Amino acid sequence: MLPLIFLFFFFCSVDVTTSFPADAYLSNCTQNFECGPFRNLTYPFTGGARPSYCGPPEFHLSCIDDTPELTIAALSYRVLKLDPVHQNLTLARSDLWNSTCTDKLGNSTLESEFFTYDDDDDMDVTIFYGCNSTLITPKPENWFFCDLNLTFDDAYYVIGPAPLDPIMSGFKCSVGITVPILKTTAAVLVGNRSLFGEAIKTGFNVHYTNPYEKQCAKCLNVNGLCGFDSDKNRPVCICGNRVCNPAGISFSRVL
Ligand SMILES: *[C@@H]1O[C@H](CO)[C@@H](O)[C@H](O)[C@H]1NC(C)=O
Ligand SMILES: *[C@@H]1O[C@H](CO)[C@@H](O)[C@H](O)[C@H]1NC(C)=O
Ligand SMILES: *[C@@H]1O[C@H](CO)[C@@H](O)[C@H](O)[C@H]1NC(C)=O
Ligand SMILES: *[C@@H]1O[C@H](CO)[C@@H](O)[C@H](O)[C@H]1NC(C)=O
Ligand SMILES: *[C@@H]1O[C@H](CO)[C@@H](O)[C@H](O)[C@H]1NC(C)=O
Ligand SMILES: *[C@@H]1O[C@H](CO)[C@@H](O)[C@H](O)[C@H]1NC(C)=O
Ligand SMILES: *[C@@H]1O[C@H](CO)[C@@H](O)[C@H](O)[C@H]1NC(C)=O
Ligand SMILES: *[C@@H]1O[C@H](CO)[C@@H](O)[C@H](O)[C@H]1NC(C)=O
Repeated sequence: MLPLIFLFFFFCSVDVTTSFPADAYLSNCTQNFECGPFRNLTYPFTGGARPSYCGPPEFHLSCIDDTPELTIAALSYRVLKLDPVHQNLTLARSDLWNSTCTDKLGNSTLESEFFTYDDDDDMDVTIFYGCNSTLITPKPENWFFCDLNLTFDDAYYVIGPAPLDPIMSGFKCSVGITVPILKTTAAVLVGNRSLFGEAIKTGFNVHYTNPYEKQCAKCLNVNGLCGFDSDKNRPVCICGNRVCNPAGISFSRVL
């Protein structure tokens, strides 16, 4: 009996107020996100035919040149692979796609409740820009030219998180960023140092988790569609294109 009472209480205490207008017509969450070879992507992903209220904003995809793009911590990533069953993806930084020279001097730090690196598959490379190494000739194999309007145009990449490479100890660089690559790619890069651009384009593996999965499951139980109220930062359940309450008994009081 106690569990039943608990359940009753639980459903009654769910605060279902949302920031959508009372007559909000939340259509199209049955639509799939489709972009290039990516088909049939649904919740938690949104974008394209799927309006933003169909999932958490962290999973919003844009379709750019037939490639889905995801934005995490102000950096854009191309989605190279996506496996909704295992909830993992392969990402590559969009700003480093055409050229390893970027003016978006930010570290690819994903650590969030939504995305985490696959530590078994990934490792970091560090890219240094604006290095004062004009006196070093010939240039080592991990050097490349990058004009970022910094005082110096020399750039270097170092495989691994810290500049342990002795070549980096002789001079100063104005900025360093870390970007993950696959460990398997790193091994190839060690064999041929001119493949850095390709190495970045191979991307790295990331796991995703949807923190609202439980609420979503409850919603699917009443044949609802999972959605999200970004203003209130909470999941919603959509039945017949209206916000409903996951107990499935009545439509929610919508403010
Ligand atoms: C829903 O999809 C239809 C057909 O694709 C489109 O005309 C309509 O504007 C969409 N509505 C919303 C709210 O996105
Ligand atoms: C994706 O959609 C297409 C066309 O609607 C369908 O033929 C295909 O079976 C779907 N694939 C999956 C994995 O659901
Ligand atoms: C996703 O996980 C599955 C199972 O662990 C694995 O086989 C697959 O390679 C992974 N894909 C990516 C892109 O990480
Ligand atoms: C990369 O190059 C392609 C083709 O040259 C171009 O369409 C695209 O805009 C470029 N992307 C970036 C981020 O520079
Ligand atoms: C990137 O991270 C490293 C190590 O945490 C830090 O020293 C560096 O300043 C960061 N770079 C940027 C551009 O934030
Ligand atoms: C650049 O490096 C050279 C040689 O190490 C040094 O003499 C010079 O002062 C450095 N310039 C700047 C602006 O740091
Ligand atoms: C490059 O730097 C100079 C001096 O700091 C500045 O005047 C100029 O506008 C910069 N150019 C670009 C393209 O940022
Ligand atoms: C390294 O890769 C470059 C670019 O693909 C290729 O041209 C070159 O022949 C490779 N070098 C070696 C030693 O394999």
